[in-house]
Amino acid sequence: MNVVATYNIKGGVGKTSTAVNIAYLAARDGLRTLLWDLDPQGSATYLFRVKPKVKGGGNALVSGKRTLDDGIKGTDFDQLDLMPADFSYRNLDLDLDSTKRPTDRIRRLLAPLKKEYDLVVLDCPPSVSLVSENVLEASDTLLVPLIPATLSLRTFDQLTRFVADSEGRRPEVVAFFSMADTRKRLHRDVIAAIPRDGARVAQTVIPSLSMIEQMAERRAPVPAFAPTSRAARCYEQLWAEVRPT
Ligand SMILES: Nc1ncnc2c1ncn2[C@@H]1O[C@H](COP(=O)(O)OP(=O)(O)OP(=O)(O)O)[C@@H](O)[C@H]1O
Ligand SMILES: [Mg+2]
Repeated sequence: MNVVATYNIKGGVGKTSTAVNIAYLAARDGLRTLLWDLDPQGSATYLFRVKPKVKGGGNALVSGKRTLDDGIKGTDFDQLDLMPADFSYRNLDLDLDSTKRPTDRIRRLLAPLKKEYDLVVLDCPPSVSLVSENVLEASDTLLVPLIPATLSLRTFDQLTRFVADSEGRRPEVVAFFSMADTRKRLHRDVIAAIPRDGARVAQTVIPSLSMIEQMAERRAPVPAFAPTSRAARCYEQLWAEVRPT
């Protein structure tokens, strides 16, 4: 079982769009896939048309009262399951803090599912928190969408240091540019100038495309409702690049 998290300290950069499309493409490729929505906003849950309901709330999960198995739902797509989020996840940090080993709860919750899934995708909330430390412990890869702007690179630098300084397991960091507008000179300059020594930077650039915004109207992954679109092709290319071998 491979675990890939879409993560960034910054909000609104394309984490959820990427998680949803990548999870769909993985399942379409035949991988038994679970997407775990870890964000109290519940956007991934909404996009897969699942009710935002975690039985007993996040606290029942991190305290060990309930297992993930209790809460996992099917989606409209073969091989693709969803662990929904609900608003109780806003307290996940506090819930984690009151457990004995607060940084490895997510990894432990996933452990019993090793034989059931080939891939787990974690859709993370934008923050640096105990939830993020759990995500580092649990993940093989952090897939990091970056909007090509100077401040994004600064935050990315903080992110790579956060991973490097983490005491537990360190996932591989794979960044990629998201919502890029290559007509903008600044975007082109930032894409050309990103330091490529601290982390892997994927070749694929996801442009800013209205088809991707339409996911919220259609409540489905782009390759499901617009399989021949440029947006679908871009995510296919990204998936081919980052797909665990
Ligand atoms: N490549 C893109 N082109 C155009 N719009 C995009 C693109 N990627 C994401 N969006 C839109 O930008 C908004 C934020 O995207 P998304 O929810 O994927 O980001 P996020 O990083 O998960 O945000 P949050 O930090 O709030 O969880 C959404 O309205 C989404 O439809
Ligand atoms: Mg999100």
